[in-house]
Amino acid sequence: MQSAYRPIRVALLGAGSVGSQVARLLLENSEELASRVGTTLELSGIAVRNLDAKRDFDLPEGLLTEDAESLILGSDIVIELIGGIEPARSWIKLALESGADVVTANKALIAAHGPELFGLADQLGAQLYFEAAVAGAIPIIRPLRESLAGDKINRVMGIVNGTTNFILDRMESTGADFGDALELAQKLGYAEADPTADIEGFDAQSKASIIASLAFHSEVPVESVYREGITKITAQQITAARTAGYAVKLLAICERASNGEKEGIVIRVHPTLIPLSHPLAAVRGAYNAVFVEAESAGELMFYGAGAGGKETASAILGDLVSAAKRHLAGGPGLADSTHANLEILPVQSVVTRFQITLEVSDEAGVLASIASVFAENGVSVETVHQSPADKDAAAVLTVMTHVALESDLEKVVVALSKNMAVVNVKSVIRVEGL
Ligand code: HSE
Repeated sequence: MQSAYRPIRVALLGAGSVGSQVARLLLENSEELASRVGTTLELSGIAVRNLDAKRDFDLPEGLLTEDAESLILGSDIVIELIGGIEPARSWIKLALESGADVVTANKALIAAHGPELFGLADQLGAQLYFEAAVAGAIPIIRPLRESLAGDKINRVMGIVNGTTNFILDRMESTGADFGDALELAQKLGYAEADPTADIEGFDAQSKASIIASLAFHSEVPVESVYREGITKITAQQITAARTAGYAVKLLAICERASNGEKEGIVIRVHPTLIPLSHPLAAVRGAYNAVFVEAESAGELMFYGAGAGGKETASAILGDLVSAAKRHLAGGPGLADSTHANLEILPVQSVVTRFQITLEVSDEAGVLASIASVFAENGVSVETVHQSPADKDAAAVLTVMTHVALESDLEKVVVALSKNMAVVNVKSVIRVEGL
């Protein structure tokens, strides 16, 4: 294609599963991309750690280099796909300082150092794009940042980690225990050899911090996001939830809240019961979905593949086209919006329903004694279900509360643990979406 503009030089940092797909799409679809942008996107090089490593896609000779810094300094747009904090952070800073726009999929970096990097981009009139950092192929950053910028978002609930959704779904559909479902996830390539970041909720915690910062126009440090993983969830718990009409999902929940004096936000990641009728309950396998509740737009749901080389590359290419168009148009980047800076409240400010499962001795007066613990702490009980005791074993009580303040529920749990009739508080799980 003939264009009045010179080609835009694009540097790729990393040639893993996403990087190879980005390179392939850039090379295979170069004419189509040129028509969308208004000039050619020229892949000027791909920085890798090891030139001889095996790749998913045969890259043209001469594109690979181990000298990332020279590549960055000669480029208009830098795509960072190496992940982790360093050297990604230094290379993104170098790219911005050299006048390049940057596209990244690095959620850990954006969650931990977003304000620093956005501040630098803003100061230099550059732009940092990160659509692929949350929920892979699903467009969610741009809708939160731009499409819904004129609305007031009250709540976002997301299944933003495909690995844990796959494991929970597998436990539900086959009755497998956590260990077996994790092993299968590893065999299929969903879970890493060290699965900690996924199963302990760290990956979802980073994504929740990014979503909340955009939804509420506030800085949300990743450490302020309450986090619980899924390792304590049992197959029995999932079956019981299903029988009662609920699915168990690892949700990232970002919402407005109040501590009685101040309005603020609470951001949390934890296993959650949601009614089977809720759209998020229908998200199976390794898929992701983000459910947004906005004042004027109402309820919106964004659904799709949350990971995968080709799928994540789609989000990267979308950002690349935006970056290239902006590069041609000139002018300053779109500054990050943190004007509201709402206070981040602790998880104890959450108001929700809870399901508490207890093992209790099966004797006269036990139910009354347990009910009084809830009443004394201002938590109203909606339903109680008792499974009869087998021989000498304890009976199992499942208590569903009405909406209650998390700090009151914590007092209930402490008091239950001290109650002579309670053998064990087996689990406490929050219930959303009713
Ligand atoms: N490990 C992530 C997941 C993939 O399971 O969703 C990309 O963030």
